[in-house]
Amino acid sequence: MTPRSARPVEIGSAHVVVTGGSSGIGLATARLLSGRGAKVSLIARGRVRLEAAAKDVPAAARVADVADHAAVTRAVAELEEEREQPCDILITSAGLARPGHFLELPDDVFRQMIEVDYFGTLYALRAVVPGMVERGRGSVVAVSSAAALLGIFGYSAYGPAKFAVRGLMESVRAELVPHGVHVGVVFPPDVDTPQLAEENQYKPAETRAIGGTIKPLTPEKVAAAIVAGIERRRFVICPDVGTRVLARFGSALMPLLNREFDRRVKAIGKAARRA
Ligand SMILES: NC(=O)c1ccc[n+]([C@@H]2O[C@H](COP(=O)([O-])OP(=O)(O)OC[C@H]3O[C@@H](n4cnc5c(N)ncnc54)[C@H](OP(=O)(O)O)[C@@H]3O)[C@@H](O)[C@H]2O)c1
Repeated sequence: MTPRSARPVEIGSAHVVVTGGSSGIGLATARLLSGRGAKVSLIARGRVRLEAAAKDVPAAARVADVADHAAVTRAVAELEEEREQPCDILITSAGLARPGHFLELPDDVFRQMIEVDYFGTLYALRAVVPGMVERGRGSVVAVSSAAALLGIFGYSAYGPAKFAVRGLMESVRAELVPHGVHVGVVFPPDVDTPQLAEENQYKPAETRAIGGTIKPLTPEKVAAAIVAGIERRRFVICPDVGTRVLARFGSALMPLLNREFDRRVKAIGKAARRA
């Protein structure tokens, strides 16, 4: 196959579909892209928050659960029709995180993480990629997590789902580059969003200790990294220096990091026994 030349998608004339666009990282990215002149479409489950976001961005919107293949496919098709333009840029930000001790997490949580975080990404990709390949241009960006760069205490359900997203995007990148389609994957650390607030209610003390006192990023900072990543056709998109180092040297640093994290976990155990 003859590789097609990489023609960057012009944000100002693009139709951008954002799953999980009613809140947090997805909403911040939608706002930024709309401000740059893109036609934006949002997908999420909760109608009230979605309609408020659509008004604010402004954007078209459809209610759909990304874990439902037929519903996502239909939502994307309807948005393409409403906007009278195929999807040029897809950002999959819909997702959820439920930390907890491996021994205590119910099986359902493991399944839910894979269904929403992994299959929710896959189904949205499957809805837009054939058209992009046919047109020889487009950009697909999946929001994974720093938890996909290293296995972390407390993330035995969430981490593997985000590792799967990373693996999917790595394979898909290799296949889509010859078709002129840009593929990116984002590795945010903690970001100050409703998801983080929800997640914090379940975070084991050990997971908090590993996170240390690092201040969460703003969703706007992550959005800026995503937009820059699209413009520069980057595969790995890291919104801060810490995740950039992890993405590049994670495997090499793993023994050192594990030693430090194990030390923090042990200190929590000791403190609990003393209390
Ligand atoms: N915040 C962090 O610290 C952090 C760090 C690393 C990675 N991430 C990842 O970044 C992405 C965005 O997270 P966020 O922090 O911005 O969370 P957020 O503020 O809670 O937003 C999540 C968005 O996804 C939607 N959503 C959730 N489940 C869905 C489903 N099954 N179908 C359709 N839409 C769904 C939500 O709307 P509805 O609930 O109404 O559907 C909402 O619009 C997620 O993939 C998350 O795992 C977040």
